[in-house]
Amino acid sequence: MSFTDYYDAQADATGWLGPEIVFGLAYRHIRSGDTLLDIGIGTGLGSIPFHKAGLRILGMDLSEEMLEGTKSKGIAAELKLHDLTSVPYPYGDESLDHAICVGVLQFFRSPNLVFGEAARMLRDGGVFAFTTADRDSADPVELTVGPEHTGSDESVTMYLHEAEAIRRLLLDCSFTVQRELEFTTYMDEDRRRRLRARAYLAQRSPRI
Ligand SMILES: C[S@@+](CC[C@H](N)C(=O)[O-])C[C@H]1O[C@@H](n2cnc3c(N)ncnc32)[C@H](O)[C@@H]1O
Repeated sequence: MSFTDYYDAQADATGWLGPEIVFGLAYRHIRSGDTLLDIGIGTGLGSIPFHKAGLRILGMDLSEEMLEGTKSKGIAAELKLHDLTSVPYPYGDESLDHAICVGVLQFFRSPNLVFGEAARMLRDGGVFAFTTADRDSADPVELTVGPEHTGSDESVTMYLHEAEAIRRLLLDCSFTVQRELEFTTYMDEDRRRRLRARAYLAQRSPRI
């Protein structure tokens, strides 16, 4: 099995609901024909429901292998290899209707670059839907996930984000928070290791 097939199978086996939840939060704001950028598109799981709804999907990711996974699904109009820590992202100001970032921001200590770029690229009123690994004040700021959960030989560091900090940052980046939903993710197929996640729907405030 290829790594991307393994990735998709794991997302299914561990009950990853991010794509459905993000679509559910966004659906009343989207229309067939709108353009949506999937930031950290991976194998395209987050974009599948939007593609089915008739949106034009653009995708960006650091991993050529993951982009190949999306390409093989035939759901994206355009895919770009780009590191999200490098700004500006390769899209113009106000060039997109919407953006999503699903299962990605837990790899960033701060989502400020992603939020700032989303605000720049989105047209007024466009929506930005994303997930985070959610943090209560008692939780650690970061945690290390071992190879048994990453599908590779390496451990990865994941960052948890407090909802209040995310809301503040969104406001600073000219977004209005429209909706939020806390949900459960699992790190393993047996669903023993639980991780709290949160999905947000933010709307680009009008430029003055
Ligand atoms: C857990 S996957 C989620 C993929 C997809 N959004 C989904 O819904 O399944 C995280 C993705 O973020 C990408 N990623 C992580 N750090 C990145 C970075 N600095 N720049 C671009 N992509 C990055 C990874 O390559 C991977 O495809």
